[in-house]
Amino acid sequence: MDIFEKIKNNRGPIGQHAKESHGYFTFPKLEGDIGPHMIFRGRKRLNWSLNNYLGLANHPEVRKADTDAAAEFGFASPMGARMMSGNSNYHEQLENELSAFVGKEDTILCNFGYQATVSSIDCLVDRRDVIVYDAESHACILDGVRLHMGKRYVFKHNDIEDCEKQLERATKLAEETGGGIMLITEGVFGMRGDQGILKEIVALKSKFDFRLYVDDAHGIGTMGNNGGGTGVEQGCQDGIDIYFGTFAKSFALIGGFISSDEQVVEYLRYNMRSQIFAKSLPLPLVVGALKRLELMRNHPEYKEKLWEITRALQSGLVKAGFDIGVTNSPVTPVYMNGSIPEATNLIIDLRENYDIFCSMVVYPVVPKGMIILRLIPTAVHTIEDVNYTIESFSKIVDKLKSGQYMADKIASV
Ligand SMILES: Cc1ncc(COP(=O)(O)O)c(C=O)c1O
Repeated sequence: MDIFEKIKNNRGPIGQHAKESHGYFTFPKLEGDIGPHMIFRGRKRLNWSLNNYLGLANHPEVRKADTDAAAEFGFASPMGARMMSGNSNYHEQLENELSAFVGKEDTILCNFGYQATVSSIDCLVDRRDVIVYDAESHACILDGVRLHMGKRYVFKHNDIEDCEKQLERATKLAEETGGGIMLITEGVFGMRGDQGILKEIVALKSKFDFRLYVDDAHGIGTMGNNGGGTGVEQGCQDGIDIYFGTFAKSFALIGGFISSDEQVVEYLRYNMRSQIFAKSLPLPLVVGALKRLELMRNHPEYKEKLWEITRALQSGLVKAGFDIGVTNSPVTPVYMNGSIPEATNLIIDLRENYDIFCSMVVYPVVPKGMIILRLIPTAVHTIEDVNYTIESFSKIVDKLKSGQYMADKIASV
């Protein structure tokens, strides 16, 4: 079988719809300054689809810092991997400031959040070790677990009893192999918006020996009194042994980091393959991250505004009769019932007739018959944006319920 022939005939679960989706449902182009109102297909739309939680993407100080750093350093600098020739004072300064921000001894920067998670999991466990992880973990955790040569046990999403059961199994096995246990979960689950049960998991440390790894991609900057993450929010940050954050969301940048004990981070510096064998983060990104961190520390009002908008949106949706599930973070899923053609027609109506742009999640990501419209509030949305969206959603859900979006095939735009 020729590999090209195989992929010609099997385009993948999403790729099979590429022809009718590309440019509209998939790979849409949002243009203009990043914020709640962006251009899609030549027209301004109210945008709820970006993780620009604190509104930093288009903050004037951020834009200036990015521009100045690009002019001063260019994007080539530094050349090489950190260990060989790609280190700088700014990289180390950012690592130190991040460690203080999340309350850990040390930090290592990584070029992408996804890569950081995959590679750090790969680096920290060997074939004798056992991984225990949440069933609804992000792809980067699953892919890190896929690299693991030893055993893994998955527990039902946020189910502490099942988590304990899997820890019991893992403990038995680890005793046989002479390995250790790493438990991996998330601070905030990006699809449902529910926080990981970190406090309950940390409490299990009195019964079991394990190290806790938390992917807090959505929690850094949005949770905890200082934005220091979901562990701070739940009062159990010290119980998190390995803390992962990304720059791709609240920081409105690119890259990620892992914070932990000094000796663990030093081990990662000298052993994590994605950083040893790849060029380090360009200086403008590092200097840009320092500016964003400074703004986060000095302007708690951005996080307060994010939560004001979040509360208005979530309580307004609930009051209007919508099901937003179990979210206790800014991530706001709106659950509806309908087929995939109905979902696509609904999204077209929402975009073309109400000028609202948000992400849609359907089968196979969620069960057949379920539609999720996923809203990401930010500090730069307004109460008017919230009210307009809830009014519009009430209209489209009436249309959905009365069968107006039924169609035999996916509508093309
Ligand atoms: C929970 C979670 N972990 C990790 C990542 C990956 O981060 P990055 O975009 O920095 O690669 C994401 C981003 O999509 C995420 O939502």
